[in-house]
Amino acid sequence: MPECEVGHTQNTVFPHPGAAADPSRFIGREDELTALQRLQTTTRHLTLVGPGGVGKSRLAARLSTTVQHRFSHGVWFVDLAPRSDPAELVEAILNVLEIPQRPGQDLLQSLVELLRDRHAMLFLDNCEQVISAIAEITARLLRTCPDVHVLTTSREPLGIEGEVVWRVPPLSLPPVDAVELAQLEASEAVLMFVARVRERIPDFSLTLANAADVVRICRNLGGLPLALELVATRVHRLSLHRLATRLDPGAALGWRGGRGRPPRQRTLRTNLDWSYRLLSAPERLLLGRLAVFSGGWTLAAAEAVCTDDDATVQYIADDLSQLVTRSLVQAEQVGDGSVRYGFLDTTRAYAAEQLEATGGDAGLRARHAAYMLGLAERTLPAENGAAHASLLADELDNLRVALRWAANEQQTELGRRLAIVTGRLLLSLGTSALWRGDLPSAQARLDEAAERLHRVDNPAELVSAAVHLRALIAARSGTGPAALRVIDQALDRERRLADLPRLLETLTELGNARLNVGRMDETLPAFREAAELAAAAGERLSVIRVLEGVDYTARPRNVSLTRREDEVVQLLVRGLSTKQIADQLSISPATVRTHLDHVMAKFDLHSRVQLVAWATRGA
Ligand SMILES: Nc1ncnc2c1ncn2[C@@H]1O[C@H](COP(=O)(O)OP(=O)(O)O)[C@@H](O)[C@H]1O
Ligand SMILES: [Mg+2]
Repeated sequence: MPECEVGHTQNTVFPHPGAAADPSRFIGREDELTALQRLQTTTRHLTLVGPGGVGKSRLAARLSTTVQHRFSHGVWFVDLAPRSDPAELVEAILNVLEIPQRPGQDLLQSLVELLRDRHAMLFLDNCEQVISAIAEITARLLRTCPDVHVLTTSREPLGIEGEVVWRVPPLSLPPVDAVELAQLEASEAVLMFVARVRERIPDFSLTLANAADVVRICRNLGGLPLALELVATRVHRLSLHRLATRLDPGAALGWRGGRGRPPRQRTLRTNLDWSYRLLSAPERLLLGRLAVFSGGWTLAAAEAVCTDDDATVQYIADDLSQLVTRSLVQAEQVGDGSVRYGFLDTTRAYAAEQLEATGGDAGLRARHAAYMLGLAERTLPAENGAAHASLLADELDNLRVALRWAANEQQTELGRRLAIVTGRLLLSLGTSALWRGDLPSAQARLDEAAERLHRVDNPAELVSAAVHLRALIAARSGTGPAALRVIDQALDRERRLADLPRLLETLTELGNARLNVGRMDETLPAFREAAELAAAAGERLSVIRVLEGVDYTARPRNVSLTRREDEVVQLLVRGLSTKQIADQLSISPATVRTHLDHVMAKFDLHSRVQLVAWATRGA
C-alpha cells in the first residue's frame, strides 16, 4: 500500500481550481449547476464539453466545490492544459495526490492501488490534447476503483463506456430588441461583460444609454465568456459605442487579455489554435472551406460546396461530425428534425483566416453561389413559391453572400437570377412578418427586396408583390395622406392589371384601416367594391370574407401564431382546401385540421369563414 492518505483533509478541493488563478466573480449558471449536481449522483464519469472559452473549466470547478461533501476523500483537481506528453499524465496525477514516486515503479498500477478503496472524485481539467491517453487512464480507474468518480472537461468527449457527456452552452444572451434594464440584467452574458468592464472602470454601469451597445457586443460574441472578457479589456481605449459598432469578429481574434492568463487563453486566436492543431488535414481543409457559409449550412450544402479534387464528398459527413465532436462547429436540430450546422462568429473568422493562409480555394465561392441559386430556385419557383418561403428563410444570409460575390465577379446572369429569387424570398418573409403584426421587420424585408429588384430592372411580377406589400404595410400604419397615396398606387396597378386576389386584399385592408380609425362612411365603399369584384368573379368565399370583415373589429391581439400555423392560415386565406394545404406543406390533412383548430381556439373563432375573415383583417 502506498504510504500516503488521499484527501486527508476532508471536504476540500485540492488544490482549489481557479480560486487562486482567477479571483473574478462567478456569474450565473444556476440552471446548469442544478442539472449537473443531479446528474452527478447518477454517474461516475461526467464530461463537460464545448468550444474553448465557453466556460467548461469554470463551471466544472464550481460543480466540484458544490459536490465535494459527497466524497469522504475529497475532490482532487488536476490541470492537464500544460501537459502534452501522454507519458507524463499519471505522474501529474500522482503529484497532485502528493504520492512520492520510486524509480522503476509502474505508475498507473500505483495510482490504481492508491485509489482502489477511496471515495474520491478526480477532476481532470482540459483533457483535449491528451484525450486518448486520458481516456485509457480514466477507463482503468473507473473499472478498478469502485468508489472513484471522474469529472473531466474537454473540447471533445473521451468516448469511453459509461461517460456522460454534457455540452456547456454559452452564457445566456439578451433579446435583440431588449429595451428594459431588467431584460438585460437577466442575461448572463451582459452580467459578465459589465462585471469585467467594471474591474477596470469601477464607475461603469449599465444604463439605458449604453444598453443597445452592450446587447450588440454580447450577441456579436455569441455569449462566449472568454470573448466577452477579452473584449471588455478594450473598453478603456475605445468608447463602448465605437467598440460595439466596429466589433468585427476577425479583429476580435487578436485582442489580448490582461496578464496572468494561460497562453492558450491569451487571445481568441491562440485559443482556437489549440483546437486547430488537433485536427487532421482533411478536417482543417473542411473547416476553412465552411467559412464560405454565412448563417449556417446543411450537410447537403457542405457536400455540394466544400468538395473538389482535394476533398471528396464521401468523407464530408465524417469530417463535419468530427468538427462538431471537437466543438468547432455547432449542430442544431431544426423544426423538421433535420440538422443545421453553424459557427460561432469568431470561429468563422478564424476558419476564414485558415482558408486564406492555406492559399484559399479558387472555386469555392462560385460553387457556393451556384448551389444557393439552385436551392433557392427549386424551393421558391415563380409559381406559388411563397408557400415554401419558410424553408428557405435560413438561407437568406447565404444568398446575400452569393449576391455579393456575383456582383464583385461581374457574374451578371447569375447575379440577376439570385437577385430575383432573393427578392421573392424577402417579399414572402415580409408578408409573413406583416401577418404576425411585426411591421418593422415587414418594412425592412420590403426595403431590401426593393433595393435588390431595382438593380435587375424591376421584374413586373415582383414589383406587383412589392407594391402590394407596401400598401398593406401602409394600411396597417395608418390612414394619413402618405399611407393613402401608397395604397392608391397599389389599387391603380392592381385594377390596371386585373390582379383580382391582390386587389381584393388591398381593398379589404383599406376598409379595415378606415374602420380602425372609426371612419365608417369611408369604409363601406372599399368593402363594397371588393365584394362586387369578388361576386363578379364568382368568388363566393371572398365575398363572405369581405362581408364578415366588417364584423370583426376586436379580436385578441397579443396572441401569436407559430410559423406553421401562420403558413396554414395563409394558404387557407388563398382559398386552398385542407387537402391542398396538406399537400403543399407535406403534412397530413389531420395535422392541418389540428393547426386550424389551434388558431381558432387562440382567437376565439368559431368557423373557418370567421377565421378567414379574421386573417384577412389581420388582427
Ligand atoms: N460563469 C462564469 N463566471 C465568471 N467567469 C467565467 C464564467 N465562465 C467562464 N468564465 C471565464 O471565462 C474564461 C473562459 O472560461 P473557461 O472555463 O476557462 O473556458 P473553457 O474551459 O471552456 O475553455 C475564463 O477566464 C473564466 O474565468
Ligand atoms: Mg478549460
